[in-house]
Amino acid sequence: MELWKGRFQKALDPKTNDFNSSISVDSRMYKEDIEGSIAHATMLGEAGIIEKSESEKICAGLKEIAADIESGALLIDPNAEDIHTFVEGELTARIGDAGKRLHTARSRNDQVALDVRLVLKKECASLIEQIRELLFVLCDQAEEYADTVMPGYTHLQRAQPITFGHHLMAYAEMFLRDIGRLEDAVKRMDVCPLGSGALAGTTYPLDRELSAKLLGFSAVSRNSLDGVADRDFCAEIASAISLAMVHLSRFSEEIILWCSWEFKFIELDDAFSTGSSIMPQKKNPVITELIRGKSGRVFGDLMTLLTMMKGLPLAYNKDMQEDKEAVFDAVDTLRLCLTPFIPMLKTMRVLKENMRNAAARGFINATDCADYLVAAKGLPFRDAYKITGQLVALCIDRGLTLETLPLDEYKKVCDAFDEGVYTAINLEKCVNDRKVKGGPAPENVRAAVKEIRALLG
Ligand code: ARG
Repeated sequence: MELWKGRFQKALDPKTNDFNSSISVDSRMYKEDIEGSIAHATMLGEAGIIEKSESEKICAGLKEIAADIESGALLIDPNAEDIHTFVEGELTARIGDAGKRLHTARSRNDQVALDVRLVLKKECASLIEQIRELLFVLCDQAEEYADTVMPGYTHLQRAQPITFGHHLMAYAEMFLRDIGRLEDAVKRMDVCPLGSGALAGTTYPLDRELSAKLLGFSAVSRNSLDGVADRDFCAEIASAISLAMVHLSRFSEEIILWCSWEFKFIELDDAFSTGSSIMPQKKNPVITELIRGKSGRVFGDLMTLLTMMKGLPLAYNKDMQEDKEAVFDAVDTLRLCLTPFIPMLKTMRVLKENMRNAAARGFINATDCADYLVAAKGLPFRDAYKITGQLVALCIDRGLTLETLPLDEYKKVCDAFDEGVYTAINLEKCVNDRKVKGGPAPENVRAAVKEIRALLG
């Protein structure tokens, strides 16, 4: 259907039509487009703007179209300008004149602003559900490895002892915030733009509250220009998803490191790894590499949206048609990444021995040795720090660890040392004693798991 037939003598040049059309992207909104049209038509009938009988005819026709697209009986025309045009054209072809009344007091500008919101509301709910699933897996794994000692790192240098459960729960915090950000974005976009018209509202006596209510919105948009020109919600969602991708990507990077022979802290299940076409020994953590790579395209989506919007005068501009490809890609990519990541995490084998062995090397109990001199022997921390530094240098020189350095060597550096130092630097004790709120001690990990499970409900 050519919407603007009255003013134009010719159809759009076919290649230009391809360029102009958004159907390849927005056909995924057909259900929401029809849902929006049913609400609009119902409201038009209720408000007496069109006949009730026409409104009913329109709604019945729209329902049939939805069912036919769903069943495959009706194919969406790839040459249509967009989904709005296609549905309206199909409706008029099916029910005749009543179909021509559907677009009374509506523009594709408020229509598309509505459709994208409806789609994104659903998509966000399903992403939140997926992230919740990830959180439950993280909690289970953290509980299982609540007392598995591993080295914690700063600068990728072994730093202080932590537990694997604590490390996993750090990611739980990040993903919990991701859920919060998505929920926030949904709250702000929970306004119905129908009634904004093309830009200047309408002279028809619309019942905007009714349309909003029928579509499950909690409010109507306050300003008709903003109603059609706002795409903040797309950028907010892409931004929330970008941060979720940052978290997935950092986690992936660590998994890649942990799978290497250099670390060998975990082994992924065969079902979530691939081999090499030439090197028979290889087992590659490709899922995590792909996730790390795909984070880039999601940041690109966010940049697309911000850049697309930044110079646009009010209200609608065709540039905004680019919104859907970007925001849907961000949604789809996060979903795609979470899908294998969750079972991969669930089935990974944790090599506790290797973590424990790594923890035994690298002097990660040096701070605890200094703390012992402070707590048991009353030294000022700065002096204790210096003495421990000298002991570490001595150990490196002799090829020893703080655990294997004989007491007389300790005493040569500082005669305050006694046998008690060996208890103080025992790694399990070092971890168990780090029970300050938020710390890595097993009891803290179990408490954190409990708290997060409770938050998830
Ligand atoms: N396909 C368009 C989009 O995605 C729908 C709105 C078109 N409005 C217009 N005035 N051309 O943004």
